[in-house]
Amino acid sequence: MRLYVKNLIRRIPGAEPLARAVGLAPDNLRTFLLEMLPKNSLGAEIGVWRGDFSARLLEVVQPKQLHLIDPWKHEPSAMYKYALYGGLTKRGQEEMDRHYADVCARFQAQAARGQVTIHRGFSADVLGQFPDAFFDWVYIDGNHLYEYVKKDLELSLRKTKPGGFVAGDDYVGGQWWKDGVTKAVDEFAKTQAAELVSLRDRQFVFRRKS
Ligand SMILES: C[S@@+](CC[C@H](N)C(=O)[O-])C[C@H]1O[C@@H](n2cnc3c(N)ncnc32)[C@H](O)[C@@H]1O
Repeated sequence: MRLYVKNLIRRIPGAEPLARAVGLAPDNLRTFLLEMLPKNSLGAEIGVWRGDFSARLLEVVQPKQLHLIDPWKHEPSAMYKYALYGGLTKRGQEEMDRHYADVCARFQAQAARGQVTIHRGFSADVLGQFPDAFFDWVYIDGNHLYEYVKKDLELSLRKTKPGGFVAGDDYVGGQWWKDGVTKAVDEFAKTQAAELVSLRDRQFVFRRKS
């Protein structure tokens, strides 16, 4: 029965991230990744939504600085019909504004002591403002369409120190983003600047070479 529900969730576009987000599917797939990331590091999460994974990053990785990047912008077009920030919202932009306010409240204490910084903006704009080779790691979970993932990978690598990690979620096809993540990641794996160190449980992990 459990397997049936799991398979059903997998087949409905957009259902899996939603099921995970509301606690109907376990989010233990990413534990191995959390354990790979260095403690006391400088990191960024692209695509925050309600901050559930941000909380796990803080708990397990205990970063010195965590930069949370998300525009919290509702996308009304048909392309985003099954996205958590598109057609799956009940109240559109009002709901995204609510998520932003909730994330600010949720991490208020960490922000006050300088551990968390919340950036409301698109990853390309926000990441671009950091010096090159700044981060120890960047986790990519924003817009999953090909052009965005490609750009996030390139920019994140540039902003990550040699030896640091560029990782991300949803390395899987057949969802609303089609082959956006898999295609961008497979292409990126051919670049000389990064080594693909792990590809499991829908997660991809690159290490910057130099
Ligand atoms: C799947 S949710 C993130 C879930 C979160 N990482 C977690 O695991 O709890 C995707 C998020 O990406 C954000 N997003 C969409 N386009 C983006 C962009 N260009 N840059 C950064 N974030 C983006 C959306 O607003 C949404 O909150």
